[in-house]
Amino acid sequence: MADTVTIKEVGPRDGLQSQPVHLTVEARLELVTALIDARLPEIEVGSFVSPKAVPQMADTDTLVAALPNSGCIYSVLVPNQKGYELALSAGITEMGLVVSATELMNQNNIGKGLEDTFSSAEIILERALEDGVDIHVYLAVAFECPYEGLVAPATVIDQVNRLMRCRPSRLMVADTIGAANPRAVSSLVSELVAQHGSEVLGCHFHDTRAMAMTNVFAALEHDVRLFDSAIGGLGGCPFAPGAKGNLATEDLVTLLESMGVNTGVSLEHLLTAVTTANRLLGADNYGRSYSWVSRSWQKLG
Ligand code: COA
Ligand code: ZN
Repeated sequence: MADTVTIKEVGPRDGLQSQPVHLTVEARLELVTALIDARLPEIEVGSFVSPKAVPQMADTDTLVAALPNSGCIYSVLVPNQKGYELALSAGITEMGLVVSATELMNQNNIGKGLEDTFSSAEIILERALEDGVDIHVYLAVAFECPYEGLVAPATVIDQVNRLMRCRPSRLMVADTIGAANPRAVSSLVSELVAQHGSEVLGCHFHDTRAMAMTNVFAALEHDVRLFDSAIGGLGGCPFAPGAKGNLATEDLVTLLESMGVNTGVSLEHLLTAVTTANRLLGADNYGRSYSWVSRSWQKLG
């Protein structure tokens, strides 16, 4: 198992995109700043999507322009060529590009069919190589689709092979609705690692059925070292019915650090970021480990 793992915090994007409360750019910046203070190595700060489709992510360009210089890598999610161009003009050189494993998820998410989405991804990936932009391709609904049901692993393996030919800097297997289980993760990830190596592969889990942590463990056993999570377990996709929160970052960090796997994240400051998110959203979203970890800090303090 790896001794270091890189966490991309997706709270400001995946976490906020389906919240009933729409945060201002100032509030989103406050949240990102709290996450930088927690030394998250990477933060997905927003998305360049249609503000009509996802009003919570409107004005991501203004947010990006206000980001402080820090050691943190900022990325955004883009759904298409237009998003890519907008992100590039905003100065972003690390982008998540979302493609879905099924026809209906692509249609519901970005209004394009599967083949169109894949060929558009290929064009963007080619462009990104010329522009020196790092693309993290997200293969959404890689285990189960809310519209089409279970997705065959053989389909996902073929799709990953197709996408890998365009040399993305990272391929993220995304369990968008939280339908995976550790055995399914183990089987799919071992095959993908055998074909492509573990360096470029990562996992994005939702915790709808309380299996995200076990799914992380299954992927770790195959040497996967890139994981997404969102503070407080915020999150969900507005176009994937049933999608609940992401794996909580405080739980992921607690799992990894307790096993001696280094994340570089400051748990103490992460807890502050969780309370910041709750204050801004007027909500009570906490990972399962929150009270244990905060009690430990109080004892130490
Ligand atoms: N960012 C901002 N605006 C965009 C855009 C982008 N990436 N891509 C297209 N648009 C604009 C178009 O310019 C057009 O604007 P107009 O109405 O002012 O002319 C409008 O959106 C519609 O464009 P169209 O090409 O007809 O696409 P659409 O209406 O089918 O919408 C998406 C396609 C991808 C823009 C839209 O479905 C979307 O933003 N989905 C969000 C996906 C998402 O965030 N999912 C959750 C994360 S997985
Ligand atoms: Zn997600």
